This record gives sequence, C-alpha cells and structure tokens, in this order.
Amino acid sequence: MYISVRARNMEPSATLAVTAKAKSLKRDGKPVISFGAGEPDFDSPPSALRYAEEAMKKGQTHYTPGTGIPELREAVCAYYKDHFGLEYKPADVVVGAGAKPLLYEALGCLLDPGDEVLVFTPAWVSYVEQIRFFDGKEVLVDTSKTDFIPRIEDVRKAVTPRTRAMIINTPNNPTGAVYDERCLRDLGKLAVEKNIVILYDEIYERLVYGDAVHHQILNLVPEAREHTIIINGVSKAFAMTGWRIGYALGPSSIMGYLGDLQGHITSNACSVAQWASVGALKEAEQDVVAMHKAFSKRRDLIVELMKEMPYISFTEPKGAFYVWFNVAKALGKSWKGQALADDATFCKVLLESKYVALVPGSAFMADGNVRISYSNSEEEIREGMRRFKEFLGELE
Ligand SMILES: Cc1ncc(COP(=O)(O)O)c(C=O)c1O
Repeated sequence: MYISVRARNMEPSATLAVTAKAKSLKRDGKPVISFGAGEPDFDSPPSALRYAEEAMKKGQTHYTPGTGIPELREAVCAYYKDHFGLEYKPADVVVGAGAKPLLYEALGCLLDPGDEVLVFTPAWVSYVEQIRFFDGKEVLVDTSKTDFIPRIEDVRKAVTPRTRAMIINTPNNPTGAVYDERCLRDLGKLAVEKNIVILYDEIYERLVYGDAVHHQILNLVPEAREHTIIINGVSKAFAMTGWRIGYALGPSSIMGYLGDLQGHITSNACSVAQWASVGALKEAEQDVVAMHKAFSKRRDLIVELMKEMPYISFTEPKGAFYVWFNVAKALGKSWKGQALADDATFCKVLLESKYVALVPGSAFMADGNVRISYSNSEEEIREGMRRFKEFLGELE
C-alpha cells in the first residue's frame, strides 16, 4: 500500500515507545522501573469517578455538543476565573480528547503550508510532528545555555514574516523549567508586536515547587489576549490521563474554527469522561493539593539522589515531574563492552541491563540528554536511582 510522505516522515512518540518497551520487559517478568511515562501514578480523584458513574447511570452516553457539554465548559471558565482571574465565556472554550489533539487542531486552524512556528528546545515530542503534519515549519530556538528559559534576543532573531505562532510550554516538559515573569512579559509583547499567536501550553500549571511561581501570561500581558490560545486539561494535575480530556480557551475569532475542525475529527470528546472532568474541576481541589505535595517530596528526593551521580549534570527542575540531565560525559564510554555512542543507546543499554527506563533527549530535539519522569513511589525512585548509579559506576 502507498504510504504518504507525511506519514512516512513522522517520528513515532519516543515516550510511548519507551513505555511500551518497559511494559513488554515487565510482562516477561523483568523487574522494570519505568521513569518513562509522562503521567501521574495516582488514581483519578473520587469525585471524577462518581460523576462518571452517575453519567453512565443517567444514560449520558451519547454524542455531546462538538465543543463539549455546557457544564464542563462552564466549569473550565469558573476554574480560570478562580485561579487566574480571567473571564472567558463558555462559547470560547473547546473541550477536546486531551490537550494533544487541541494543539493539533489549533495548528490546523493557524498554519498554511510554509508557515513557521517558534519552538523552544528542548521541546515536548509532539509539537514538531504536529507542525509538520500541516506542512508548517518549526523554527527551533535553543534554551539550553540559559537554564531552559528562552532569551528574548534569540527569539526575536528567529521571527520572520512567515512566523504564525510560538509555542510556550511552562512548566516545561522535558526540562522542568518554569518561565519567569520577565521572560513571559517579553514573549507576550513580542507576540503582540509581530502579530504572532501564542499557544500557551500550561498543562503542568499546578505542578510547581519551592519558591517557583507559575504565571498566566495574560495576567502579565493582558493586551496579548486576542493573540493567545490557552491549552490545559485534566491529565496531569488531576491524574486523569486515560480519560482524555483537555480544554482550549481563546478569542472568539479562532475558537469557532477550532470547534468546527474538531467536529470533523473526533466529533466530541467522550461524554462520560467529560462528566468525570466536571467532577474533578468542581470537587477535586484537595486531591490536587495532596498529589502536588507528594510530587514535591519526590522532586526533592530525586534531586538529592541525582547529585550523587557521576558523569551527569543538570539544572534543578522547578516544575512538572521531570528531571532533565546531560550525559555527554558518559557518551563514548562503554558498559560491559557495549559502546554508549549516543543518548538513545545509553537509555537502551540501561533498560536492558538494569531494567530502568528513561527517555533519550534526542526525542526532544536535544541530543546528549536524558529525561526522567519521577511520577513513581519514593521506594521506586530510591531503587531506580540506586540501579542507575550502579550502571554509571560500571562504565569504562
Ligand atoms: C507539554 C505537554 N503538552 C500537552 C500534553 C498532552 O496532554 P493530554 O494528555 O491532555 O493530551 C502533554 C502530555 O504529555 C505534555 O507533556
């Protein structure tokens, strides 16, 4: 069968691939500890389950309005009003089957072939693939020399007359960076000046630690409102990855198109999952706070353990649930005769030898680095890091 160039050029999701390999080794009875998946290990909140059950009992199992049930769109507006003081109308909210398809739909509504999107690297695996799917062009701006916070001079230099959008992801996957106020102000103002759309992916907004603060860009640059599409969802903060519910909020000038495009792809997101998300947004605040507390402890633990590792260097993460580290000093060495030529081989040999799954940085457009997702119990973190240290100690 003929396969389109577009499909052939697409890289499969590296995080999903690592998780799949780790699961398959686990099925074979291997004692795998996976730090691969970008999802909380907690159960979804009881309120979400209760609302879902009630929805099923009441027969709310049919198509819903394409952009989501009014109750959920209202709950999203109430959340944005309570948490950020932002006023949105339910008509300007689109509920989708996760943040991922909403980003895809937003790009579909913004890009003509050859249009450019600024992506700050290291960057989450799907941005670039999604941009390419619409024959758009990613323009990468490296943040690795500035603690993973983009430098406005670098961003300005990357803007061309074809720049349509910039994707801002804070707290950041994979680096754990939380963009500061100044950076966000500068980016917001640049977007307004150059008429660039901001895709503001704040899916990890509830997960910031220590003295770090997550800023909603529209509170810093209110004049960017007509240029901004906010992307968020229940996956990370509410431990609801499998329900597949995300939401986008933005100006009426684009949200209608986004809803229409979604109508031709998924129709609506799962009706029962939408009700579960109403339950989460309305009644799971305490669960979110408890999970945040646990993540904060895990972060402190893993950061301490990582400091003991030879060969690697890292910037302490301030948000999300990832540690991003550089392994350049370990590359070129070998483990029991197996040469560690690059980050992908490093992760492969580690997984096959010590059954510890990490994601290679090349998947995030940053070769020579590795991502750990620490959404694991403290026992697993301790044992996984013990094995990782042992592995590094055996390099020759
Ligand atoms: C930065 C970022 N944006 C969006 C998503 C997608 O989340 P969802 O589960 O809502 O599709 C993820 C998930 O890993 C992510 O890391």
